[in-house]
Amino acid sequence: MRIELPVNAERFGSNLFYAVQKVFELDGGIDTDDAFSNPFHVVRKISAEELFAIERDMAVIIPIKDERLRLLEGVLCGIPHACFPIILSNSQREPIDRYRMEQAMVDNFCRFAKKKYAMFHQRSADLAEVFKKGGYHDLLGEDGLVRNGKAEGMIAAIVLARLLGKKYIGFIDADNFFPGSVLEYVRLFSAGFSQAKTEYSMVRVQWHSKPKIIDSELFFARLGRVTRITNQFVNQLLSLHTGFESDIILTGNAGEHAMSMDLALALDYSSGFSVETNHFVNMLEKFGGVLPTTHPEVMRNGVEVFQMQSRNPHFHEATKGDDHLKEMIEGSLSVLYHSPLCPETLKKEILHELKRHKIISASKKEPTNPRRYPSLSKMNFEKAAKVLDWEKHSNMPNV
Ligand code: GDD
Repeated sequence: MRIELPVNAERFGSNLFYAVQKVFELDGGIDTDDAFSNPFHVVRKISAEELFAIERDMAVIIPIKDERLRLLEGVLCGIPHACFPIILSNSQREPIDRYRMEQAMVDNFCRFAKKKYAMFHQRSADLAEVFKKGGYHDLLGEDGLVRNGKAEGMIAAIVLARLLGKKYIGFIDADNFFPGSVLEYVRLFSAGFSQAKTEYSMVRVQWHSKPKIIDSELFFARLGRVTRITNQFVNQLLSLHTGFESDIILTGNAGEHAMSMDLALALDYSSGFSVETNHFVNMLEKFGGVLPTTHPEVMRNGVEVFQMQSRNPHFHEATKGDDHLKEMIEGSLSVLYHSPLCPETLKKEILHELKRHKIISASKKEPTNPRRYPSLSKMNFEKAAKVLDWEKHSNMPNV
């Protein structure tokens, strides 16, 4: 792969946010080229070996809830062979057991592809037991099972990836129409990590475009509504603290993102669809130097966030309606609003924005504060590992 070097970066305490990087060639060729090792060159070539070495250590997490099986199959097809897929499903069990259908398809696919996988239902007693034994009760609801929600599925899968000994985790939504774009996202994750100088790194994908049909014609929109609003307010928060206006963040709520395991274990999480925006807010809070940190080792080493622009357009299931978009905007803006770093002026603007779009009612004093989950570093992974029956939830034998 050949990628542009980041043109600039914004620092906030120990966080380094790099500007979006563009891909020049998805396949950068096998020849070593002396001209490209010149430190003054603006394009970096990342060899297939480098990408492969990272992918071998990467679990790709696919959160899924009642998506079409064909889409999930396409996503699996796009994941490089070296990566380990973890499918974390919250699909319905009754009256039709969609999870069983997903399981049968995944198992069959992976038999043909000769690929290892793990698959869990979010609401299974087995998964809940991992958290009970590991002493991380925050994720469990009153019924003793892992709570509903996309973030909750992602957090559960991070723990599974940690138990598998993975160094990196990437997230890919299950409703993607193009296996080729899935492959590109994972390659972008690896390309991002290959540049990292610290163990605490994150890679976020900025979609090149999101096609829509307008007047029977394809229109390649650059940003979705949720993304546009989220980016604006994340940048404002950053700018108000640094004193310099910035528009560096273009991946405020990127669903397609990846983290080093070290960073994933240090972050706190928020529920549902606020989770991706909260990554930024939490990094600013924990490693920004304004508030006391719970992770001095991360402060010392620094955090790097790479934003990579994909070349494939993002084509996904887009029939989830206006209420779904509103829920995502409220989730994203509320984690900004409720942050101790959010200045009063920004709070007022967020409230105004939410009311203007009729996302919250005019009489509401503040957006609903999403549930928070403390960092997974407090979990006892040794104890959790003892109750995991991999044979039942994967095509691997227990070890
Ligand atoms: N395990 C699990 N549990 N998965 C879920 C749940 C849940 O409760 N809810 C949704 N999912 C899965 C969906 O099946 C899909 O694969 C993925 O999570 C994303 O959910 P969507 O409902 O399709 O979200 P979206 O496409 O509107 O928004 C995506 O992109 C945004 C950025 O524009 C999401 O990734 C957002 O989180 C992201 O901010």
